[in-house]
Amino acid sequence: MSAVQDEFQGLETVDDRHVIGRHIVWHEETESTNDDARRAAETGEQEGLVVIADGQTAGRGRMSRTWTSPPGRDILFSVLLRPDVTDLPKMPLVAGLAVARTLDAFTDQPVTLKWPNDVRVADRKISGSLVESGSSKTGYFAIVGTGVNVNMDAGAHPEIAEIATSLRTLTGKSVSRREVMRKLLFEMDCIYSSPEQMGRLVSDWSSRLETIGQEIDVRWGGEFIHGVAEGVDETGRLLLRDGGGELRLLEAGEVTTQLSGQ
Ligand code: BTN
Repeated sequence: MSAVQDEFQGLETVDDRHVIGRHIVWHEETESTNDDARRAAETGEQEGLVVIADGQTAGRGRMSRTWTSPPGRDILFSVLLRPDVTDLPKMPLVAGLAVARTLDAFTDQPVTLKWPNDVRVADRKISGSLVESGSSKTGYFAIVGTGVNVNMDAGAHPEIAEIATSLRTLTGKSVSRREVMRKLLFEMDCIYSSPEQMGRLVSDWSSRLETIGQEIDVRWGGEFIHGVAEGVDETGRLLLRDGGGELRLLEAGEVTTQLSGQ
């Protein structure tokens, strides 16, 4: 049994009411867990698959950024979901809210969200999610890939030293990846598998948003739009009042704020 399998085994759900974690696979090293989950989706894997890696050689973030995480320190995983197509745009919100609720249990400091899906503590990014969608013979799917900085020392990585943090940095002690992962899968499943929680997702998620009321720069395709974030709509799209006074509706899946961390 590999070391990562040993650390994370036993987290599978055993109850049919739960979706996320029905099947878990582990890699000591892989290019990107999002690619592994996508390949599984394309060959018909049912939703709920979780792919966990100890390290990634080509981990990626939004806007073609690299996701920095030294092997053996943090949480790197992707979940295959097959939501109703109308719920696809909400998958980044499911990830962000589940991470925030999880981190509440590991730090006393407020855990906030920066639109669209950075999770932040003490003004620094601690987690991000990259949600990719596709379709196969069995229908639409979403790959929800999430990185959580658990034990890394962001200061040792110049490209993120000024903008990122980890649970270990915040608490001054090593934190169990297994315990963080266990709670995170539970929180994600509680939201995704509950029509009631999905119904109030945008409201719960936006109550943690630190972006609202701020002046921000948003990348939309090749251009940056400067404006004031006025709120979010019922699917999590950002309402941005641009410099010309026009209200723009921006999809979380397609744009990001210019200075979004790691
Ligand atoms: C971001 O904030 O830009 C999103 C970061 C997403 C990183 C995770 S780590 C696990 C999964 N595999 C990847 O290649 N990326 C996501």
